[in-house]
Amino acid sequence: MTFAILNGKLINRSEAKVDIEDRGYQFGDGVYEVIRVYNGKMFTAKEHLERFVKSSDSIGISFPSTQEQLKSLLEKLIHKNKLQLGIIYMQLTRGVAPRNHAFPSEEVMPALTAYTKEIARPVENMKNGVKTILTEDIRWLRCDIKSLNLLGNLLAKQKATEEGGYEAIQHRAENITEGSSSNIFIVKNGVVITHESDNLILKGITKDVILKVCFENNIPVEERAFTLEELAGADEVFLSSTVSEVMPIVQIGDKKVTEGLPGPITRKLQELFEQEIENHCGNL
Ligand code: PDD
Repeated sequence: MTFAILNGKLINRSEAKVDIEDRGYQFGDGVYEVIRVYNGKMFTAKEHLERFVKSSDSIGISFPSTQEQLKSLLEKLIHKNKLQLGIIYMQLTRGVAPRNHAFPSEEVMPALTAYTKEIARPVENMKNGVKTILTEDIRWLRCDIKSLNLLGNLLAKQKATEEGGYEAIQHRAENITEGSSSNIFIVKNGVVITHESDNLILKGITKDVILKVCFENNIPVEERAFTLEELAGADEVFLSSTVSEVMPIVQIGDKKVTEGLPGPITRKLQELFEQEIENHCGNL
C-alpha cells in the first residue's frame, strides 16, 4: 500500500481525494513544493519548507502546522512508502468553499496534501546536456510565489516539448528570466551569471545551493538580469532545479552552445552540487 498525507494524516493514497469545490482545483488558489529525496532523506528540506510557508503567507493562506510538524510527517511518509530516490510533492490550497472569487470566511480550513514519487537522477542528460528553446515570458508579475497557477509555465514547456526540447528559456523583452520549471545560468569569462531573485522568478533552492558553492569555491557570481544577446554569446549555459540538479544546456533552438558539449564550470558545479547532496544525504 502507498500512503499520502491529507490534512495532517497519513492515509491510503487511493483514498486521498479532494472535493470538486476545492479552490486549488477551481482557481489554482494555492501553493506547492517539490522536495528531492536521496537515500530516503530529504535534501534541503528546511529551505523548501520555509519557501512553502512564505508562498502561503504571501497569498494569505494560514499555514496549518509548524514546519517541524510537517517535516516529521513527511519523514513518516517517506518511511511508510519506502522511498529511496524520488520526490515529495506537496500542496496547500485555500480549502473547500462555494465558488466565489473573493476568499471564503476564515473558518474554511486550508487543504494540505502530499505524496511521494520515485524519480531517478537524470544522469544521461546531466552527462550530455540538453536542448532548449527560447520563448517569451507571458506569466504574471509574482513568479516568486510557488503558486499552483502554472498555465504560463505549462504553455512554455509544451512548446519546448513539441520542438524536441527539454526546457523553455523564457525572456521578458530583452532579459532572460528563468526556465518554465528551472532557473537559468550563463557563464562568461569565468563569471556565473543568473537573474536576481526578485518578483520575476522563483527563488530556486537549487539556485541558492549553487550560489553557495560558488561562493565557497571562489567562483565569481553576478546575480542580475542578462540579455538575449549575452545568452547568445555565453561560454556556457545551464539550468537548475530540484529534479534536474545542475543540467548543462548544449543547444538553444538551432544554435549549439559550447560546441554541443557541457562546459568546464558547469561540470565543476555538478561535482560540487553532488558533494552537497552526499554531505547531507549520503553517497549517491
Ligand atoms: N520547479 N523556476 C520555476 C518556475 C520552477 O518551477 C522551479 C522548480 C525552479 C527551480 O526551483 P528549485 O531549485 O527550488 O526546484 C525555478 C519544480 C521542481 C516543479 O515545478 O516541479
